[in-house]
Order: sequence, then structure tokens, then C-alpha cells
Amino acid sequence: MSGQAELPRRSRCCGDFRTEHVGQECCVMGWVHSYRDHGGVIFIDLRDRSGLVQIVADPSTSPGAHAAAERVRSEWVVAAVGRVRPRSAESINPKLATGEVEIITDRIVILTEAETPPFPVDAAEEMDESLRLKWRFIDLRRPQMLDRLRRRHEVVLSARNYLSERGFWEIETPLLINSSPEGARDFLVPSRMNPGHFYALPQSPQLMKQTLMASGVDRYFQMARCLRDEDLRADRQPEHTQIDIEMSFVDEEQVLETVEGLVRHIYRVAKGVDLPDPFPRMTYAEAMLRYGSDKPELRFGLEIIDVSPVVAKSEFRVFTETLANGGQVRGINVKAGACLSRSQLDNLQPTARELGGKGAAYIIYEPDGTWRSPLLKYFPEDVLEELRSLLGGEPGDLFVFGADEPEALAPFMGRLRLHLAGLVGLPGETDDIRPLWVTDFPVFERDSETGGWQAMHHPFTMPKREFLDTMEENPGAVIGQLYDLVINGAELGSGSIRIHDPSIQQRVFRIVGISEEEAERKFSYLLRAFRYGAPPHGGIALGIDRLVSQIVGVKSIREVIAFPKTATGADLMMGAPGPVDDAQLRELHIRPVE
Ligand code: AMO
Ligand code: AMP
Repeated sequence: MSGQAELPRRSRCCGDFRTEHVGQECCVMGWVHSYRDHGGVIFIDLRDRSGLVQIVADPSTSPGAHAAAERVRSEWVVAAVGRVRPRSAESINPKLATGEVEIITDRIVILTEAETPPFPVDAAEEMDESLRLKWRFIDLRRPQMLDRLRRRHEVVLSARNYLSERGFWEIETPLLINSSPEGARDFLVPSRMNPGHFYALPQSPQLMKQTLMASGVDRYFQMARCLRDEDLRADRQPEHTQIDIEMSFVDEEQVLETVEGLVRHIYRVAKGVDLPDPFPRMTYAEAMLRYGSDKPELRFGLEIIDVSPVVAKSEFRVFTETLANGGQVRGINVKAGACLSRSQLDNLQPTARELGGKGAAYIIYEPDGTWRSPLLKYFPEDVLEELRSLLGGEPGDLFVFGADEPEALAPFMGRLRLHLAGLVGLPGETDDIRPLWVTDFPVFERDSETGGWQAMHHPFTMPKREFLDTMEENPGAVIGQLYDLVINGAELGSGSIRIHDPSIQQRVFRIVGISEEEAERKFSYLLRAFRYGAPPHGGIALGIDRLVSQIVGVKSIREVIAFPKTATGADLMMGAPGPVDDAQLRELHIRPVE
């Protein structure tokens, strides 16, 4: 019976049956979600990706179908042939889309039997994530998971359609390329035919898409796989997918307009919401000062404010000495934060250290208008009042301060801000979507290890015109035509106008310490392409995994990737990475070292 029976033709998906189909002959196929034996009559909830439908096998009318129904177990795959009928009034299930009907079957074909799954499909959500990942094919059977895959498809499809309609061509670029720096470590692939030589897997198609511009493609996009051997987090996978875009003969403004249109379209199609038009913008410098981050979360205020001139009038030595040494003191008004418990307040100091700061001090403006703080004795009443006014304090607010030299203070206050928001339950459950362009990033930053300059994004970024003549004099001050798309505090995309002039490219390489020999070895083809006539161009890459996880409302991008990897880069289902045969290694001219 099993497996070999002739396959009937499916007439409709399980979740699609409604009262309008009553009386129709039908055939459904799917997984046995559950079964109940009600004194002879057997009920099976049959499941496919569209939902559930109830199958009824009655021994008095169809003994054969009933006998088959008696055998089936959870997750067996079956076909049921029968007729749609209305459910009796008392058995209508309003929670089910198909709950007003059922299928009375006269033939059940068992398509495949199944071993008892390690956990019921329904229970997967509560399972430990490593168990879910090991048994991913079971986990994915859940409606939520299938729905996420469907919505990811919608995001990708809507992006394809939008870009295609605007003259962008989807072009594939190779996965086996030469090693080139993009910030992370490369994954290498040994070449069997070229002993001792390696391909690298692309960290992004950056150089290839720029070369395509030099080839006259004009408008390119790709759903590009990017592979980076970096430390993983909830929003980082060793392989991720980007909507990779590049355009010729455009300035920054035109790229931002195009990408905004695309992102608005995606949110409209995949989430049914209209994002603001245009997206607000903020420079990197402003974002660092007001939010302590290059990806500000704007769903709540809690802005960072420089209180140095006011606290200079206090007698609190930590503050006054920091100021005397060229440092600053910045504060955050945690609205309604006076309700924090004593232990939460006591914890601020150790937490501040964990967040990379030197400390955190607080002053509470009580609901009755009085003050509470360990620092009170150092703050005269008029200084407190000035602080309150600067921070916009109202009764019940909590002011938290950090003091340090400005470079270190900004990112610390940014982390402190997010921590404080968490303590008072922000942003909470909200449908708010706050897109933001962060612009005017520096081109160069100090490499913390070598002390030399390195590219903040990548070394192909065009500095703003006004810095071109003098960028060698003070690389740290050079602002680039660089932009990030940030939504709700997550960096969803990053791009720039590129250098298309070989002499500017050489100068930038020189500043970041890439020798001519190294540049020739790593980017020879791009540099050559530039020498033979390259158009001005620019582009961006949007992280699809992050975009989809925001759209479906999950915290980890693993929830929107069919087969993701763990924090240690393992695929628990496949057992990758794994050992390989010695013979395979020999063929690749590789000998492991201890
Ligand atoms: P960047 O490295 O900033 O830029 O990447 C662009 C976007 O891709 C997403 N992203 C990731 N998502 C998941 N896991 C990762 N490990 C990961 N790394 C990046 C982020 C990020 O904003 N070639 C340039 C783009 C360009 O200049 O056109 C690039 O790759 O959402
Ligand atoms: P300490 O002198 O290190 O014991 O710090 C005394 C108190 O000053 C701490 O509990 C903090 O509240 C505050 N404090 C110390 N250092 C800083 C700092 N860099 N920024 C803000 N507050 C600080």
C-alpha cells in the first residue's frame, strides 16, 4: 500500500477549503498533524503549507479508508480522496480557516510513513534552538516558519520587480574569486589544479560590481551571497545575502532616492505599511553626539546631552577633573526613570564598566519635586535647577551621567542609552518603524592595533569633493560620500559613491597603507578597468536577512534563514564543518598541522 500506490491528483491545498466548496469531490495531500479516534469515526487534521483541514474516516460508509486511517501516525504523509461537507453546528472550529467544513473520505493513500519526530511540530517553538537547528526540517514545518520563508520570498521578489522595472539588470558574479579585503577574514577554497593556490569566497561582490560599471552595465543588482569569516552574533551569519546595487552616472542624492523608493516598496508589499517620504537624515557626527551610535534607535528619545558647562559648576571631583583634563560630561534624561529600584540604580556603576565606560552617576528628580542622589552634596540647588532645565526634566525623571574623553564617551553613552531604555521597557511593543539615513561618515579611521589609518567602510569610497586636494594632511577629518540605511537601530544597508579616478584611488590606498604591489595583486583588474575609462558610480548593499527579520518582527536573523549556522559557525543539521578524507586533502595539496 505504502509509497507505491498510484498518486491521485491533488485538487486543492489543505488550508483552502471553505463552505463554497461543500459538495465538491476533492483530493488533499499533506502531513498528519493529529488524529483522534472518536468511537469508530477517525478524525485526521491534515496539514500542508497552506494550513489544516479535517478529514473524517467513517467505518460504516468507507471501511477501507477507515482501516488506513487507523494505521496513520503523526507526520505520515497521506492523500485523502473524498467530498467536502459542512461541519455540524457544534463541531465548527472558528479558530481554523477551514473550520466550517470537513472532508469525508472514501480513500486514504499512505504516501510515506514517518518515524516518530523528536518533538511535535507544534512544540518546536519552545525547544532549545540547537535542537530546532539540528531538526530544522521539522522546525520549518511550523506555520510561523513557513510563513517567514514566504515573506522572505516576497521581499526578494518585490525588490527584483522594483529594480527590474527601473532598468536594473540582475547579474551573477562568481563565488570563486581572488582574496580581497573587505574588513572580515576570507573563507578560502584550495585549488586542486593549482597547488598552493587558493580561491577566496566573496565577502561581497564589491569589486565585481564596480568592474561591471566600467563595462557599461549602468544599473546592476544581485541577490548576492556574501561570505565572511567573522565572529557571529544574533544579526551576523558567516554567509548572508545582500540586495547588492550599483549605478553609473549618479550622485549620492540619486542613489538615496532610488534605494528609498525600493525600501518603501518592499515595506508596502511585504508588510503593508507606508514608510515616511523622504526618510529623515542625520550626519554621522550628529548621530554619535546625540545617540552615541552610527545606527541610532529612534523609536524613543533619551537623547544624549552635553552637560559639561553646567556640571563644571558643581563640586563633584570626578566631573570637574574630567573636564579639566579635556574630557566631557554627558547626560541622559530617562523619562519616568525615578521608578527604578534601588538595586537597579546601584547596578548602574558596574554595568557602566561592562559597557566600556568609566562610570555612571545619577540624579533623581522625584515626583514630588525633591532631589535624590549620592552626588547631592556636590550640587548646589541652582546647578541642579540648571541641569533640570538643560535636560528637560520633569518630576519623576532620572538623569544619568557619564564622564570621559569625548572619543570614548560617545559610544559608551550610546550603549548606556540602550541599556537605560531597556530598564524602563523601551521601545516596548510598538509598530513604529523609523528609517534613517546616516550620512557623512569619515573615510578613514585609526586601526586600533597598528595605529595607522584604515578605511571605515572600504577603500573604494569617494571622499567629498572639498577634501580631495588635502586629504593626506589630515585623513581623520576626511568625510566621504558614504551612507548607511538604519531602521529601528539596526544597520540594514551601507553604500557609497565610489572612486572612479585611478589617481585618487592610488592616494587612498597609500593613506590606508596598501602598497602599489599589494593593490596590484588584490585589485589589479579593478584598477586596470579604471584606467580604461570608468564612469562615476555608486551603490549600496541592503542586508536581506536583517531586512526580513525586521519585517516579520523577529530578533535573530536565524529565524528568517532556512538553514542558518550557530554562533560557532556550525550547521547542526548537516554537521558542517566536518572532517574530510585524507585522500581529499592530498588531492588539494593540503596537510593539516596540529
Ligand atoms: P557592508 O559590509 O556594510 O557593505 O554590508 C551591507 C549590509 O549587509 C548586511 N550584513 C550582514 N548581515 C548578516 N550577517 C552579516 N555577517 C552581515 N554583514 C553585513 C548589513 C549591512 O548593512 N560592499 C559593501 C556595500 C557597498 O558599498 O555597496 C558591503 O558589503 O545589513
Ligand atoms: P569612584 O570615585 O570611582 O568610586 O566613583 C564614585 C561615583 O562616581 C560612582 O559611583 C559613579 O556614580 C560616579 N562616577 C565615577 N566615575 C564616573 C564617570 N567616569 N562618569 C560618571 N560617573 C562616574
